Amino acid sequence: VSMKGDFVWLDSGSGVPIGAEVKVTDAGQLYLIDDDGKEHKVNKKVTLRSMHPTSVKGVDDMIRLGDLNEAGLLRNLLVRHKEGIIYTYTGSILVAVNPYQLLPIYTIEQVQMYTDRRLGEMPPHVFAIADNCYFNMRRNRKNQCCVISGESGAGKTESTKLMLQFLAAVSSQHSWIEQQVLEANPILEAFGNAKTIRNDNSSRFGKYIDISFTDAGAIEGARIEQYLLEKSRVCRQAPEERNYHIFYYMLAGMPAEKKKSLSLGKASDYNYLTMGKCTNCEGREDVMEYSHLCSALKILMFSEDDSWELFKLLAAVLHLGNIKFEGQRF
Ligand SMILES: Nc1ncnc2c1ncn2[C@@H]1O[C@H](COP(=O)(O)OP(=O)(O)OP(=O)(O)O)[C@@H](O)[C@H]1O
Ligand SMILES: [Mg+2]
Repeated sequence: VSMKGDFVWLDSGSGVPIGAEVKVTDAGQLYLIDDDGKEHKVNKKVTLRSMHPTSVKGVDDMIRLGDLNEAGLLRNLLVRHKEGIIYTYTGSILVAVNPYQLLPIYTIEQVQMYTDRRLGEMPPHVFAIADNCYFNMRRNRKNQCCVISGESGAGKTESTKLMLQFLAAVSSQHSWIEQQVLEANPILEAFGNAKTIRNDNSSRFGKYIDISFTDAGAIEGARIEQYLLEKSRVCRQAPEERNYHIFYYMLAGMPAEKKKSLSLGKASDYNYLTMGKCTNCEGREDVMEYSHLCSALKILMFSEDDSWELFKLLAAVLHLGNIKFEGQRF
């Protein structure tokens, strides 16, 4: 029999049960509030499935859940997310829920807190996964691999950057190569990421990053392989989507005299940039990103000439997109 304060699983109609708390018990009735805040009136005679205590408050590692099924996993993530906790383990797998806000959990203090710890010693964190890889690599002298997956907008790119940031910090030679590894990202994102309807910074390619370390554990090099760039985006964009960031950065940030020598105007002048009817991306400062890109190019040893060739090519693409053809009958 359910009592006030008990937690139960309710049929939600979506196929996956939802959690609910018994708020009031009346003669023949139970009043429940589900996790979405909806009220339900249930006959006392109906047998409700009571929730395992581990699911009520949630657990750090979902392997410990008594109700280890889809509803249990989802509710666990939900309960934690409501408390602002975005990371949860399932054994040695880390589940991250995108917080869509900057959390103060990626500071240098946090890096130190997660360095040289066993997995599970500290609350779940992406740094713990990076530390675990680094530790195992050094102890077992074996290559380590992390797979980051999720739907568009889930936070894969951000998580990758956080892992790189952690590895650069613990390798901590403050070397040129560490900086180059970190600054390769803004360049790859400028050319390979775009605003889509699901993600303002959607990666339109996959990548495999290979980082090599010295015996002493310092980063000594990196190799990035890319897969399947969505080339069609250069000529066509769906409604409310943009072309690759780089075009907008260039048009917004390039000094006037350079633009003049490439005969460039503004984003709205180009067919290839206006198909999605969207040239601005809220929260993305194209001017600032342009200067960030230019400094990243310098850090990665692109000469002034190399960079200029890049921008010439980009300008050529935009001009080609504006050519009009007319048919003629002879
Ligand atoms: N840990 C985080 N903290 C704060 N914001 C985040 C975090 N992870 C993701 N975000 C936010 O969510 C947005 C989308 O994340 P991200 O670009 O990493 O998704 P993705 O999985 O790489 O998607 P896609 O498959 O489209 O490339 C980021 O631009 C950022 O605003
Ligand atoms: Mg991405």
